[in-house]
Amino acid sequence: MISWRKHYKRGLIAIGLLLTTSASIYAQGDAKNGEKLFKANCTACHALDKQLVGPALGGVVDRLKTEQNLDTEWLNKWIKDNKSLRESGDKYANEVYEKFNKVEMTAFPNLTDQDVTDILEYTTNPPAPEPAADVATAVDTNSAAALEASNRDSSNSKIILISLLAIGGLLLWLLLKLRQLVKLQQSEELQGINASRAVSFADLYKKYHYVGKGLVVFLGIFAAYGLWNSLMWIGVYKGYKPEQPIYFSHKIHSGENKIDCQLCHSSAKYGKVSEIPSMNVCMNCHRTIAEYNGKYMEPGKDKAFYDGEIQKIYAATGWDTEKQQYTGKTQPVEWTRIHNMPDFVYFNHAQHVVAGEQAIISSYNKKNPEAKIDVVCKACHGQIDTMNVVQMANDFTMGWCIDCHRTTEIDMDNGYNKEYFKNLHDKLKKQYGSGTKVTVAAIGGLECGKCHY
Ligand code: HEC
Ligand code: HEC
Ligand code: HEC
Ligand code: HEC
Ligand code: HEC
Ligand code: HEC
Repeated sequence: MISWRKHYKRGLIAIGLLLTTSASIYAQGDAKNGEKLFKANCTACHALDKQLVGPALGGVVDRLKTEQNLDTEWLNKWIKDNKSLRESGDKYANEVYEKFNKVEMTAFPNLTDQDVTDILEYTTNPPAPEPAADVATAVDTNSAAALEASNRDSSNSKIILISLLAIGGLLLWLLLKLRQLVKLQQSEELQGINASRAVSFADLYKKYHYVGKGLVVFLGIFAAYGLWNSLMWIGVYKGYKPEQPIYFSHKIHSGENKIDCQLCHSSAKYGKVSEIPSMNVCMNCHRTIAEYNGKYMEPGKDKAFYDGEIQKIYAATGWDTEKQQYTGKTQPVEWTRIHNMPDFVYFNHAQHVVAGEQAIISSYNKKNPEAKIDVVCKACHGQIDTMNVVQMANDFTMGWCIDCHRTTEIDMDNGYNKEYFKNLHDKLKKQYGSGTKVTVAAIGGLECGKCHY
């Protein structure tokens, strides 16, 4: 009886403790929500465990408390509007800004106090990472898609291989037959029966002529197939995957470290071309990331290899890692261009990345419910964040552009289109009813002049 009571008491105490701790967690903030907000707003420049563009943020609350005697009030101000805080003359705000070479952090005036509390809770107590099994299956579906694509490619080459083997076999057979004949002709003992052999040669031809004729027909078909194939694929480089002067892995940068595409390809939203970042952009991070310490290793590569590749950035920018300064001796890095439309084609990134963003993402996700995308770039460039070496993920032919323009409903609610196409939309609605779908084709996306100079 007594021991039961003891347990009962202990139980009560345990429950009480549990309640108080969970209550205090609740008061501190919701790490799950914080994680979401952090991933959406901060991962372009911050990670928990290492410095990216900005400092590592794991345990930042405690760090600033002990090192600078700053509280969450300060952090709240900094995160919402670091510029005003700096301009107000705050000592540490200016110090850290100087320390990071005056790289300006984005202001987040639209985050609420609760949001900031949640984010800080996440940086203090990040939830345990998802079980490894989930990660593995996520990777598997990606590689399954890739596998399927490569299977399709390899089944094509299988057909060609089998055909070639068949032809080779036939030729070998003919060769053996001919050798037999020649041998017969040459052999002295058989001179006597030459006459009868001539007859047997004619017999032989009678017997086997269809093989030769069949062969001619077969070769004809094969040549036609080859010609058709090469004509169909002129200017198509899907799968083109050149070697680059620095082994820059998108999987490591955008996949493992979640760096936003537009941090590097920042011109995509402003205009026609989405530029390859200059070496200065690399140095924003690699001034401090001189070694590779990531968990992920591509099979066949090791830390020494990655470290060597990072050294190439220093060679190119003339950065002296000992003295931590630039020597002034630079050498340009010559990236091989992968995507390249002919000069008579007009393609504009901003039109697709900004105006068309929502339309393209939602239409893509409707068509590919099993492989949804979150970043507009992937609709055209594929799962770049899983590629160690970039390869062309689509045909990039005229048919490919047109196909998407025919099937993508534009977003009538974005600011630009709402203004621009209001009349058109109203007219179409009157004509065909309110459920009318307006595709890119409907706004002129199939007109030759839109894509050709
Ligand atoms: C565009 C890049 C960028 C984004 C996005 C960004 N930051 Fe920063 N952050 C920086 C830089 C750079 C610094 C270093 C100070 C400076 O240069 O202004 C910094 C500094 C900080 C600091 C001070 C840390 C310290 O050790 O002193 C905190 C806290 C912080 N950021 C939080 C956040 C949070 C939270 C978010 C997301 C809501 C965020 N940042 C988004 C670039 C960014
Ligand atoms: C840290 C910088 C960085 C980030 C982040 C980044 N890229 Fe890149 N990207 C590069 C560099 C450098 C190259 C040139 C070398 C190469 O082809 O790998 C490149 C090349 C490319 C190319 C091929 C360009 C050509 O020559 O035609 C495409 C397409 C591309 N990136 C898309 C993306 C997408 C989509 C994302 C986001 C998922 C992304 N990039 C994120 C730096 C970056
Ligand atoms: C926003 C920060 C950031 C920028 C910008 C950046 N990197 Fe990195 N880079 C990283 C991180 C993080 C790692 C992985 C380090 C680790 O896990 O230890 C990395 C690793 C690497 C590696 C080794 C792994 C690999 O990809 O082969 C190379 C090489 C590299 N970067 C080259 C570049 C080049 C070239 C540029 C400019 C075009 C660039 N980086 C721009 C953050 C950045
Ligand atoms: C609607 C399809 C589409 C979308 C969406 C798209 N691209 Fe492209 N991208 C292209 C085409 C087409 C080219 C070839 C352009 C050329 O050669 O003129 C290209 C070329 C590039 C290049 C090589 C440099 C250049 O501009 O020629 C990079 C880098 C690139 N894209 C990155 C991105 C990034 C990053 C995003 C997302 C922010 C993105 N792209 C979104 C179709 C797209
Ligand atoms: C993944 C789908 C997709 C692909 C692929 C695509 N586009 Fe588009 N394109 C769009 C969308 C969506 C818009 C409409 C954007 C808007 O809302 O204004 C658009 C608009 C345009 C426009 C403006 C049309 C107009 O009437 O204002 C041009 C020009 C254009 N695209 C050229 C191209 C070219 C060239 C290619 C191929 C190299 C291409 N696009 C590939 C989705 C795509
Ligand atoms: C949505 C954009 C788009 C529209 C609209 C468009 N084209 Fe094209 N066109 C392209 C692209 C992209 C290429 C380059 C394809 C390549 O390099 O494989 C191309 C190539 C061509 C070529 C070169 C032959 C070839 O296949 O490479 C001709 C000719 C052509 N277009 C004619 C036209 C005509 C005529 C129209 C109007 C009926 C038209 N195009 C409308 C995007 C477009």
